[in-house]
Amino acid sequence: MNQMYFRFKHVVLLIIGFFFFLILIAKFVREDSEEYPDGANLKFPEDIRHATYLLNEAYTKIEALEEKIIHLESRIPKTYPDVKFLNYVNRKRVLITGGAGFVGSHLVDKLMLEGHEVIVVDNFFTGRKSNVEHWIGHENFELIHHDIVNPIFIEVDEIYHLASPASPPHYMHNPVKTIKTNTLGTINILGLARRLKAKVLIASTSEVYGDPDIHPQPETYWGHVNPIGPRACYDEGKRVSETLTYAYAKQENMQVRVARIFNTYGPRMHMNDGRVVSNFILQALKDEVITVYGTGDQTRSFQYVSDLVEGLVALMRSNYSQPVNLGNPVEHTINALSILKKCQAEFAEGGSCSEEYQCDL
Ligand SMILES: NC(=O)c1ccc[n+]([C@@H]2O[C@H](COP(=O)([O-])OP(=O)(O)OC[C@H]3O[C@@H](n4cnc5c(N)ncnc54)[C@H](O)[C@@H]3O)[C@@H](O)[C@H]2O)c1
Repeated sequence: MNQMYFRFKHVVLLIIGFFFFLILIAKFVREDSEEYPDGANLKFPEDIRHATYLLNEAYTKIEALEEKIIHLESRIPKTYPDVKFLNYVNRKRVLITGGAGFVGSHLVDKLMLEGHEVIVVDNFFTGRKSNVEHWIGHENFELIHHDIVNPIFIEVDEIYHLASPASPPHYMHNPVKTIKTNTLGTINILGLARRLKAKVLIASTSEVYGDPDIHPQPETYWGHVNPIGPRACYDEGKRVSETLTYAYAKQENMQVRVARIFNTYGPRMHMNDGRVVSNFILQALKDEVITVYGTGDQTRSFQYVSDLVEGLVALMRSNYSQPVNLGNPVEHTINALSILKKCQAEFAEGGSCSEEYQCDL
């Protein structure tokens, strides 16, 4: 009996010992691995290296995003330029098609500062959001991404219709689209103005005179235009645009204004506008030789964009409905323009522009 009890005791001790052994092994295995809060159980050094790599990658991404947020926040104007307060009797809702472009964006600035509500419709073909970004979020301002070849239905009191590519490389890029913008687009805008009984100003161009036989061209001159030349998509497009405007005015008894705009320059004009002012500025900035085609004795007139905008607004507010030329009556030779480069060189050397190079541009 004693012998059996002795054996049983040993078996029990053996079993208990075995359990302790298992607990000990489990403890070792546990200590060998690392537990992470997300439940990942990483047992091997490669896993830990991979996790560290992922973590570092996440940190880099977060840093890049933080930088982007800071950059974007710095672009949101904390304060807007001071706009006048106009009561509802004097405040107008103004639609500017092509308002994100060079001329349009300056017109937006003027009307906003005067206290009007401005709605810009633009397809951003040549225009840029950055031209009007200082107004984005302002209660009087709205920016609509829309192509005026398609009809648009909004409620406004006045319309400045500027949407159309303006420089040769832009309007020749897609001639059919240029014609559509100036015909179908103008029909849509005139139709909108008719429905709303709104006053509408059409931005036409000196190009309606084509290759003129007389200088300077009075508004009564009918022009000398090639209907099938490379620039016809623009020149003829604008001529049809004018024709449509006066057809609507006569038939629908509408208030219309037509501005024949001449060469304009100023801030926000396109770098690749392709015309002489931006070409010269670009070449001067790049310290390149200024390219003058021909003898350089050919003349051009250039108006500053703020003068044009004053003219557009004055025309809209006048009661004159015939076409009006808007430009600088003083012509300069291209050589006079290229003199700026020589002036720049003299300034760079610490001198001042010598008298022979001075011009009153
Ligand atoms: N800048 C000049 O020297 C000059 C000279 C003569 C006439 N104009 C006329 O003045 C107006 C403005 O010229 P700009 O110099 O500001 O040109 P721009 O190219 O800077 O601006 C034209 C604007 O119209 C937009 N646009 C073009 N097609 C459109 C479409 N289908 N739907 C909606 N938006 C469209 C463009 O995205 C751009 O924002 C144009 O009608 C142009 O013909 C300008």
